[in-house]
Amino acid sequence: MNMDKKVIFSGVQPSGELTLGNYLGAIKNWVKLQDEYNCYYCIVDLHAITVPKEAKILRKRSLELLASYIACGIDPEKNTLFIQSHVSAHAELSWVLNCMTYMGELNRMTQFKEKAKKNEANLNAGLFTYPVLMAADILLYQADLVPVGHDQKQHLEIARDLANRFNNRYSETFKVPDPYITKVGARIMSLQDPTSKMSKSDENDNGYILLLDKPDAITRKIKRAVTDSENLVKYNDEQLGIKNLMTIYSTITGESIEEIESKYEGKGYGQFKGDLAEVIIEGLRPVREKFDYLMKNKDYLENIYMEGANIAEKTARKTLRKVYKKVGFIPRKFK
Ligand code: TYM
Repeated sequence: MNMDKKVIFSGVQPSGELTLGNYLGAIKNWVKLQDEYNCYYCIVDLHAITVPKEAKILRKRSLELLASYIACGIDPEKNTLFIQSHVSAHAELSWVLNCMTYMGELNRMTQFKEKAKKNEANLNAGLFTYPVLMAADILLYQADLVPVGHDQKQHLEIARDLANRFNNRYSETFKVPDPYITKVGARIMSLQDPTSKMSKSDENDNGYILLLDKPDAITRKIKRAVTDSENLVKYNDEQLGIKNLMTIYSTITGESIEEIESKYEGKGYGQFKGDLAEVIIEGLRPVREKFDYLMKNKDYLENIYMEGANIAEKTARKTLRKVYKKVGFIPRKFK
């Protein structure tokens, strides 16, 4: 690990299979950034229990998520891949930051408001303070940059505010992190309702594509994707469905929106959708294959998260020690 490099931190919740939104909005960018930065990519299992999970399922999802990171192209030799609950400093810093966060700040979070609506029967305090834990994740590693999708922007602002607040109240301690949100791809929308984001919690499974979906499922979902009656492959806010499909096409192939527009001039949605399904299938094929291979090699995965936790722990402890000292906790003595 090169200590001169700038630091990246990001994570995904092991709350279900990865969607094309997670991949294009976040993980695909992680792959691009891994050579230039010193990256920590975390499986944020502490976050995942804000919505109750069966223990067995959570363990399975966490391991699958690690395999997915690697299958997507994150190189475990170059990056620190680890499981959040293995590094207790996350929960510890989160408490300190909780004591500096205002209720009003958390009340404004759109994601909390949405989740609160969906989880009325289990409106636990963890859902409310979730952004504080996320701030702790990022600040522990003195991250310069946090590559995420657009939906995490507000949470990133809280992390920045908390870093500044702590630095001002005590003294310079935390790096103030910048979000890394791409122009195209940071908001992949539901295939059934292009005004809401693609999400694995969507009740209609035609709304999302999973990274491990079989080719025929991908073709079917793209064919059924909501468009309009214009039949023009044009990128604009009047045609949100087709705009979303073009975004997906562009993010996977790297072709610009203009190139795609001119390629499909005079051609209808039928052809475009057929080609898009192929682009997605081919784009995801190596991911699916590598994932299947990795899941048969559990020892290899265990080794990665074990080493990852050791590295992460060292960095995180260093920051937490500084924080505890500044806050006024007597340092623990060891014999
Ligand atoms: P999560 O698990 O909901 O999503 C993981 C990443 O995928 C992005 N994403 C999307 N991007 C584009 N279009 C979509 N439809 C879409 N859906 C999801 C998310 O923006 C995210 O980058 N709170 C975070 C996890 C987290 C975290 C962190 C992230 C915890 N601690 C510290 C960064 C840094 C979350 O729930 O992401």
